[in-house]
Amino acid sequence: MSHTPHRNIALLLRGQATSDGAGVRLTRMLDTRLAAQADPFLLFDEFRSDKADDYIGGFPPHPHRGFETVTYMMAGHMRHGDNKGNTGDLGPGSAQWMTAARGIVHEERPSQENGLMWGYQLWVNLPSTEKMSDPVYQDIAPQNIPEVALPNGTRVRVITGEFNGTRGPVRPRPTEPIYLDVSLPANSEFDYALPPGHTAFVHGVSGELKVGDSPQAVREKEMALLSAQGDLHVQSGDAPARFLVIAGKPLREQIAHYGPFVMNTREEIMQAARDFEAGRF
Ligand code: CO
Repeated sequence: MSHTPHRNIALLLRGQATSDGAGVRLTRMLDTRLAAQADPFLLFDEFRSDKADDYIGGFPPHPHRGFETVTYMMAGHMRHGDNKGNTGDLGPGSAQWMTAARGIVHEERPSQENGLMWGYQLWVNLPSTEKMSDPVYQDIAPQNIPEVALPNGTRVRVITGEFNGTRGPVRPRPTEPIYLDVSLPANSEFDYALPPGHTAFVHGVSGELKVGDSPQAVREKEMALLSAQGDLHVQSGDAPARFLVIAGKPLREQIAHYGPFVMNTREEIMQAARDFEAGRF
Protein backbone atom coordinates (compact mmCIF):
# COMPACT_ATOMS: atom_id res chain seq x y z
CA MET A 1 0.00 0.00 0.00
CA SER A 2 1.19 3.47 -0.76
CA HIS A 3 1.81 5.76 2.15
CA THR A 4 0.55 9.33 2.00
CA PRO A 5 3.20 11.63 3.40
CA HIS A 6 2.31 13.93 6.26
CA ARG A 7 2.28 17.65 5.82
CA ASN A 8 5.03 19.25 7.87
CA ILE A 9 5.53 22.79 9.15
CA ALA A 10 6.88 24.90 6.28
CA LEU A 11 6.77 28.14 8.26
CA LEU A 12 5.86 28.82 11.88
CA LEU A 13 4.23 32.25 12.17
CA ARG A 14 4.41 33.85 15.59
CA GLY A 15 1.67 36.38 16.21
CA GLN A 16 2.55 40.07 16.40
CA ALA A 17 0.69 42.40 18.76
CA THR A 18 -1.09 45.19 16.87
CA SER A 19 -4.36 47.09 16.94
CA ASP A 20 -7.10 47.79 14.42
CA GLY A 21 -10.52 49.43 14.30
CA ALA A 22 -10.93 51.88 17.20
CA GLY A 23 -7.99 50.58 19.23
CA VAL A 24 -8.93 46.88 19.41
CA ARG A 25 -5.86 44.92 20.47
CA LEU A 26 -5.09 42.01 18.17
CA THR A 27 -2.55 39.32 17.57
CA ARG A 28 -1.85 39.25 13.83
CA MET A 29 -0.58 35.90 12.62
CA LEU A 30 -0.85 36.47 8.88
CA ASP A 31 -0.91 39.51 6.62
CA THR A 32 -0.56 40.17 2.89
CA ARG A 33 3.25 40.22 2.99
CA LEU A 34 2.87 36.43 2.91
CA ALA A 35 0.03 36.44 0.37
CA ALA A 36 1.93 34.40 -2.25
CA GLN A 37 2.60 31.47 0.13
CA ALA A 38 -0.74 31.82 1.98
CA ASP A 39 -2.89 32.05 -1.19
CA PRO A 40 -5.97 32.21 -0.99
CA PHE A 41 -5.66 33.61 2.56
CA LEU A 42 -4.73 37.24 3.16
CA LEU A 43 -4.96 37.89 6.90
CA PHE A 44 -5.54 36.06 10.17
CA ASP A 45 -6.05 37.88 13.50
CA GLU A 46 -6.98 36.83 17.00
CA PHE A 47 -8.67 39.23 19.44
CA ARG A 48 -8.63 37.82 22.95
CA SER A 49 -8.83 39.94 26.08
CA ASP A 50 -10.79 40.22 29.31
CA LYS A 51 -9.83 43.91 29.63
CA ALA A 52 -12.61 46.09 28.21
CA ASP A 53 -10.10 48.79 27.14
CA ASP A 54 -8.64 46.27 24.69
CA TYR A 55 -11.90 45.84 22.74
CA ILE A 56 -14.52 48.41 23.78
CA GLY A 57 -13.84 50.69 20.78
CA GLY A 58 -14.87 47.93 18.37
CA PHE A 59 -14.61 48.32 14.61
CA PRO A 60 -16.48 51.47 13.46
CA PRO A 61 -17.90 51.58 9.92
CA HIS A 62 -15.29 50.66 7.30
CA PRO A 63 -15.40 49.29 3.74
CA HIS A 64 -14.15 46.09 2.14
CA ARG A 65 -13.87 45.14 -1.54
CA GLY A 66 -12.53 42.12 -3.41
CA PHE A 67 -12.51 39.34 -0.80
CA GLU A 68 -14.39 37.65 2.07
CA THR A 69 -14.10 38.21 5.82
CA VAL A 70 -14.74 35.32 8.20
CA THR A 71 -15.28 35.87 11.92
CA TYR A 72 -15.36 32.95 14.36
CA MET A 73 -16.24 33.68 17.97
CA MET A 74 -14.99 31.81 21.03
CA ALA A 75 -16.34 34.10 23.79
CA GLY A 76 -18.16 37.41 24.15
CA HIS A 77 -20.60 39.25 21.92
CA MET A 78 -20.23 41.68 19.03
CA ARG A 79 -23.03 43.27 16.99
CA HIS A 80 -22.58 43.40 13.24
CA GLY A 81 -24.33 45.96 11.05
CA ASP A 82 -23.75 46.86 7.39
CA ASN A 83 -24.98 49.20 4.66
CA LYS A 84 -26.91 46.37 2.97
CA GLY A 85 -29.23 46.14 5.97
CA ASN A 86 -27.77 42.99 7.53
CA THR A 87 -27.45 42.75 11.30
CA GLY A 88 -26.06 39.91 13.38
CA ASP A 89 -25.15 38.91 16.91
CA LEU A 90 -21.68 37.37 16.93
CA GLY A 91 -21.80 35.22 20.05
CA PRO A 92 -19.76 32.28 21.38
CA GLY A 93 -19.44 29.47 18.84
CA SER A 94 -20.95 31.46 15.98
CA ALA A 95 -19.41 32.27 12.63
CA GLN A 96 -19.97 35.03 10.11
CA TRP A 97 -19.00 34.61 6.49
CA MET A 98 -19.18 37.97 4.73
CA THR A 99 -18.49 38.09 1.01
CA ALA A 100 -17.62 41.74 0.52
CA ALA A 101 -17.11 41.27 -3.24
CA ARG A 102 -17.76 44.63 -5.00
CA GLY A 103 -18.23 46.46 -1.75
CA ILE A 104 -19.77 46.58 1.68
CA VAL A 105 -19.45 49.01 4.58
CA HIS A 106 -19.84 47.33 7.97
CA GLU A 107 -19.20 47.79 11.65
CA GLU A 108 -18.68 45.46 14.59
CA ARG A 109 -19.29 46.79 18.08
CA PRO A 110 -18.97 44.94 21.38
CA SER A 111 -22.31 44.36 23.07
CA GLN A 112 -20.65 43.90 26.47
CA GLU A 113 -18.74 46.28 28.72
CA ASN A 114 -16.67 43.70 30.56
CA GLY A 115 -15.66 40.05 30.44
CA LEU A 116 -13.76 38.04 27.88
CA MET A 117 -13.96 38.92 24.19
CA TRP A 118 -12.32 36.26 22.04
CA GLY A 119 -12.54 35.53 18.36
CA TYR A 120 -10.73 35.23 15.06
CA GLN A 121 -10.89 37.04 11.76
CA LEU A 122 -9.73 35.48 8.52
CA TRP A 123 -9.62 37.15 5.09
CA VAL A 124 -10.18 34.84 2.12
CA ASN A 125 -9.42 36.12 -1.37
CA LEU A 126 -11.88 35.95 -4.27
CA PRO A 127 -10.96 35.14 -7.89
CA SER A 128 -10.97 38.09 -10.32
CA THR A 129 -14.25 36.78 -11.78
CA GLU A 130 -16.03 37.24 -8.41
CA LYS A 131 -14.39 40.37 -7.00
CA MET A 132 -17.16 42.59 -8.40
CA SER A 133 -20.11 40.27 -7.72
CA ASP A 134 -22.89 41.13 -5.25
CA PRO A 135 -21.99 41.12 -1.55
CA VAL A 136 -23.46 38.28 0.56
CA TYR A 137 -23.71 38.09 4.34
CA GLN A 138 -24.00 34.66 5.97
CA ASP A 139 -24.51 34.62 9.72
CA ILE A 140 -24.20 31.14 11.26
CA ALA A 141 -25.61 30.50 14.74
CA PRO A 142 -23.64 28.12 17.01
CA GLN A 143 -26.29 25.37 16.80
CA ASN A 144 -25.97 25.38 13.00
CA ILE A 145 -22.30 24.41 13.10
CA PRO A 146 -22.19 20.58 13.26
CA GLU A 147 -19.89 18.90 15.75
CA VAL A 148 -18.44 15.45 15.06
CA ALA A 149 -17.40 13.36 18.10
CA LEU A 150 -14.77 10.65 17.57
CA PRO A 151 -14.42 7.50 19.72
CA ASN A 152 -11.19 8.77 21.33
CA GLY A 153 -12.94 11.89 22.65
CA THR A 154 -11.88 14.26 19.86
CA ARG A 155 -14.52 16.83 18.90
CA VAL A 156 -14.53 18.58 15.53
CA ARG A 157 -16.73 21.58 14.74
CA VAL A 158 -17.14 21.86 10.97
CA ILE A 159 -17.52 25.53 10.01
CA THR A 160 -16.82 24.85 6.35
CA GLY A 161 -15.55 21.94 4.30
CA GLU A 162 -16.20 18.32 5.16
CA PHE A 163 -15.08 16.05 7.97
CA ASN A 164 -16.05 12.33 8.13
CA GLY A 165 -19.01 12.97 5.83
CA THR A 166 -20.29 15.99 7.79
CA ARG A 167 -20.41 19.25 5.84
CA GLY A 168 -20.21 22.73 7.29
CA PRO A 169 -23.02 25.26 6.66
CA VAL A 170 -21.10 27.84 4.59
CA ARG A 171 -22.41 28.10 1.01
CA PRO A 172 -20.05 26.76 -1.69
CA ARG A 173 -17.11 29.12 -2.19
CA PRO A 174 -14.66 29.37 -5.13
CA THR A 175 -11.62 28.58 -2.94
CA GLU A 176 -13.28 25.41 -1.51
CA PRO A 177 -12.27 26.45 2.01
CA ILE A 178 -11.96 24.17 5.03
CA TYR A 179 -12.33 25.61 8.53
CA LEU A 180 -12.36 23.11 11.43
CA ASP A 181 -12.19 23.74 15.18
CA VAL A 182 -10.65 20.60 16.71
CA SER A 183 -10.51 19.73 20.43
CA LEU A 184 -8.07 16.87 20.98
CA PRO A 185 -7.66 15.01 24.31
CA ALA A 186 -4.18 14.64 25.84
CA ASN A 187 -1.78 12.16 24.19
CA SER A 188 -4.01 11.73 21.14
CA GLU A 189 -3.62 11.81 17.38
CA PHE A 190 -5.71 13.44 14.70
CA ASP A 191 -5.62 12.58 11.00
CA TYR A 192 -7.34 14.38 8.18
CA ALA A 193 -7.06 13.97 4.42
CA LEU A 194 -6.52 17.46 3.04
CA PRO A 195 -7.32 18.04 -0.65
CA PRO A 196 -4.08 17.83 -2.66
CA GLY A 197 -2.84 21.29 -3.55
CA HIS A 198 -4.85 23.13 -0.88
CA THR A 199 -2.84 25.67 1.11
CA ALA A 200 -3.22 24.64 4.77
CA PHE A 201 -2.63 26.16 8.20
CA VAL A 202 -2.92 24.92 11.76
CA HIS A 203 -3.48 27.58 14.40
CA GLY A 204 -2.90 26.72 18.07
CA VAL A 205 -5.86 27.74 20.24
CA SER A 206 -4.68 26.07 23.45
CA GLY A 207 -2.16 23.45 24.51
CA GLU A 208 0.73 22.25 22.36
CA LEU A 209 0.67 20.33 19.10
CA LYS A 210 3.07 18.41 16.97
CA VAL A 211 2.30 18.53 13.25
CA GLY A 212 3.50 15.83 10.85
CA ASP A 213 7.15 14.94 11.38
CA SER A 214 8.16 18.48 12.37
CA PRO A 215 10.10 18.64 15.65
CA GLN A 216 8.84 22.05 16.77
CA ALA A 217 5.53 22.50 18.62
CA VAL A 218 2.68 24.80 17.60
CA ARG A 219 1.41 26.78 20.57
CA GLU A 220 -1.15 29.48 21.32
CA LYS A 221 -0.85 32.60 19.16
CA GLU A 222 1.12 30.66 16.57
CA MET A 223 0.11 29.54 13.12
CA ALA A 224 1.86 26.87 11.11
CA LEU A 225 1.83 27.11 7.33
CA LEU A 226 2.08 23.49 6.17
CA SER A 227 4.00 21.93 3.31
CA ALA A 228 2.01 21.58 0.08
CA GLN A 229 1.24 17.87 -0.24
CA GLY A 230 0.08 15.10 2.06
CA ASP A 231 -2.36 14.49 4.87
CA LEU A 232 -2.63 16.32 8.14
CA HIS A 233 -1.36 14.44 11.19
CA VAL A 234 -1.49 16.20 14.56
CA GLN A 235 -0.50 14.93 18.02
CA SER A 236 -1.26 16.42 21.41
CA GLY A 237 1.11 16.14 24.36
CA ASP A 238 0.36 15.58 28.02
CA ALA A 239 -2.40 18.21 27.98
CA PRO A 240 -5.48 18.50 25.78
CA ALA A 241 -5.01 20.72 22.74
CA ARG A 242 -7.38 22.77 20.66
CA PHE A 243 -6.57 24.04 17.18
CA LEU A 244 -8.06 25.43 13.99
CA VAL A 245 -7.45 23.81 10.61
CA ILE A 246 -7.76 26.37 7.81
CA ALA A 247 -7.22 25.33 4.19
CA GLY A 248 -8.18 26.54 0.72
CA LYS A 249 -7.47 26.24 -2.99
CA PRO A 250 -4.88 28.76 -4.19
CA LEU A 251 -6.06 31.28 -6.80
CA ARG A 252 -2.59 32.05 -8.26
CA GLU A 253 -3.60 35.54 -9.37
CA GLN A 254 -1.89 38.89 -9.08
CA ILE A 255 -2.68 40.65 -5.78
CA ALA A 256 -2.95 44.40 -5.33
CA HIS A 257 -3.71 45.31 -1.71
CA TYR A 258 -4.40 48.64 -0.10
CA GLY A 259 -6.02 48.76 3.35
CA PRO A 260 -9.50 47.21 3.09
CA PHE A 261 -9.31 46.62 -0.68
CA VAL A 262 -7.76 43.52 -2.29
CA MET A 263 -7.88 43.49 -6.08
CA ASN A 264 -5.69 42.26 -8.96
CA THR A 265 -4.27 45.56 -10.22
CA ARG A 266 -3.30 48.96 -8.89
CA GLU A 267 -5.85 50.57 -11.22
CA GLU A 268 -8.62 48.47 -9.62
CA ILE A 269 -7.45 49.62 -6.16
CA MET A 270 -7.65 53.27 -7.27
CA GLN A 271 -11.13 52.59 -8.68
CA ALA A 272 -12.15 51.02 -5.34
CA ALA A 273 -11.00 54.14 -3.47
CA ARG A 274 -12.91 56.40 -5.92
CA ASP A 275 -16.07 54.25 -5.69
CA PHE A 276 -15.95 54.29 -1.89
CA GLU A 277 -15.41 58.06 -1.76
CA ALA A 278 -18.33 58.55 -4.15
CA GLY A 279 -20.62 56.41 -1.97
CA ARG A 280 -20.88 53.61 -4.54
CA PHE A 281 -20.43 50.79 -1.99
CO1 CO B 1 -14.26 44.58 8.46
